[in-house]
Amino acid sequence: MKPTVAAFPATRLRRLRRTPSIRAMVQETALTPADFIWPVFVRDGEGIEEPIPSMPGVVRRSVDLIGQAARDAQALGIPAICLFPYTDPSKKTEDCAEAWNPDNLSNRATRAIKAAAPDIAVMTDVALDPYNINGHDGFVEDGVIVNDRTVEALVKQALSQAEAGVDIIGPSDMMDGRIGALRSALESAGHSDVLLLSYAAKYASGFYGPFRDAVGASGALKGDKSTYQMNPANTDEALRLIERDLQEGADMIMVKPGMPYLDICRRAKETFAAPTFAYQVSGEYAMLQAASQNGWLDGDKVILESLMAFKRAGCDGILTYFAPAAAKLMGG
Ligand code: PBG
Repeated sequence: MKPTVAAFPATRLRRLRRTPSIRAMVQETALTPADFIWPVFVRDGEGIEEPIPSMPGVVRRSVDLIGQAARDAQALGIPAICLFPYTDPSKKTEDCAEAWNPDNLSNRATRAIKAAAPDIAVMTDVALDPYNINGHDGFVEDGVIVNDRTVEALVKQALSQAEAGVDIIGPSDMMDGRIGALRSALESAGHSDVLLLSYAAKYASGFYGPFRDAVGASGALKGDKSTYQMNPANTDEALRLIERDLQEGADMIMVKPGMPYLDICRRAKETFAAPTFAYQVSGEYAMLQAASQNGWLDGDKVILESLMAFKRAGCDGILTYFAPAAAKLMGG
């Protein structure tokens, strides 16, 4: 539908922008703390909050501090936390067995959050990279990232997360067939209420660099992830992946990275009308923080503006390291 606009001066569009209350009345999109999923890094030890140099303002927390972080997030109105483990290099192996250890960092952190703040939703990541000696999301055989054997391992990883009590499982690995395999394994194991938020359209992006520092995968990674993550030049392929994952049993889908891929968010929401999330990734966070710290950008302003852009593009929510800061800016 094309908006009707009478000729000037019958129409003066600035009338609608004259005062704050008029602007508020005609605002089309809203951002609230309920739109956020907060990604949090966990590590071993006690009483540790360790800064991540390439993500100023973000820390790795020891498991004993994660409950308080969850209570703080809940008090700010943030509905979900997403856990990422910084696994001790000595626990990284070729067979990635730490990924389904019931007492691994991710599972211990899940239980700690459930004990401290039972109402906040816990999301975990399904992919082998934090546990893999070579930094890849899947098993590597003769230099090739193999699909089907990886999916079997992802199922074990997801079941151990479900046992620990997670609400949402986020497969970020981009293997084929994993959503169907995870969904049927969860059903058979009595975890039929666990949600799958598929990283369906995940691009092979340079914007993940600081995250790989945060989980200690940067040094380990050999080669790149282009044989499983998407080519940044493609958009139809994103729709095929999203449709496939929804048909296999994904409850929600994600586009990642965020800001450089808002066109994909818009197409995804318009095509499938499914719960659609974007991940404002570590590199996006680092760029905005670096420029703000240099006084080149007004940090408070660009945090909220960048997050509003996702809502405007059709997203239902955003994974963002800014979640607590943004919630505070919104008066939460
Ligand atoms: C890996 C994973 C990545 C991120 C989330 N899960 C990195 C990658 O694919 O290399 C990136 C998140 C970010 O950059 O903030 N399974």
